[in-house]
Amino acid sequence: MDKNSTAKIAFFDSGVGGLTVYKEVKKLLPNEDYLYFGDTVNMPYGEKTQEELIEIARKIFDFFAQRKVKAVVMACNTTSAMTYDVLKNDYDFKIYPIIQSVAKVISKLPIEHLGVFATPATINSHAYAREINKLNPSLKVTEISCPAWVRIVEENRLNQPQSLIQIKERVEEMLTHDPQKIVLGCTHYPYLKGIIKQFYPEENLIDPSKYFAEFIKEDLAANPNGSGSEHFYVSSNPENFMASSKLFCELTELPELVKL
Ligand code: DGL
Repeated sequence: MDKNSTAKIAFFDSGVGGLTVYKEVKKLLPNEDYLYFGDTVNMPYGEKTQEELIEIARKIFDFFAQRKVKAVVMACNTTSAMTYDVLKNDYDFKIYPIIQSVAKVISKLPIEHLGVFATPATINSHAYAREINKLNPSLKVTEISCPAWVRIVEENRLNQPQSLIQIKERVEEMLTHDPQKIVLGCTHYPYLKGIIKQFYPEENLIDPSKYFAEFIKEDLAANPNGSGSEHFYVSSNPENFMASSKLFCELTELPELVKL
């Protein structure tokens, strides 16, 4: 047995988005012990520069290193695209980036044309197209950024008419390219599935978190003694995090506020 396997698994994202991944991992590995950091003070990551994101990710990794975790799950496409290559060898624990971990499965889908919705930073990095085309150069990838979507989720504005307009606009733009499937390339976007499916068939939407959870389960040294404990941290506004997270996670207590 790996002597480190009893340590905790840590997750982070700019807010509640990473819970879409956390939920899937917890389903597959219910006995592990978990930490989750929602970096709400720095939300949205998708509008930050690479330098800013690297500085933020380092602080979060240092925070987790102090808590002696065995793995950090980048439950965030933006930091996977912008910081993973720079930071991947700097820490003792295992680091799981979402895009690089799911590209293999996505690249094998029996289709010719894939759409990707993601944050501006992820789209500008072309990380999805790059990682997928490394494995399958003939799969056409159309990438479209959706700048307003993360705030709709974090600010709990799913039911506002303006949100519907902003989402419809991006979906309609994607539809002019006619992709066979669309990846929700930001962990916040599964919260918006109920709206997106009004304009595009839900069965053709890909939420990579299930593939990501399977990848982590296969790769990780399992904890034989874990208790399924969880602890949530946020960098601002715990009450808001609790309210916005409801679709994916029923928190039993307020997340702990930490300033990094
Ligand atoms: N949920 C994150 C992602 O998957 C970041 C969203 C943001 O803060 O812009 O990219």
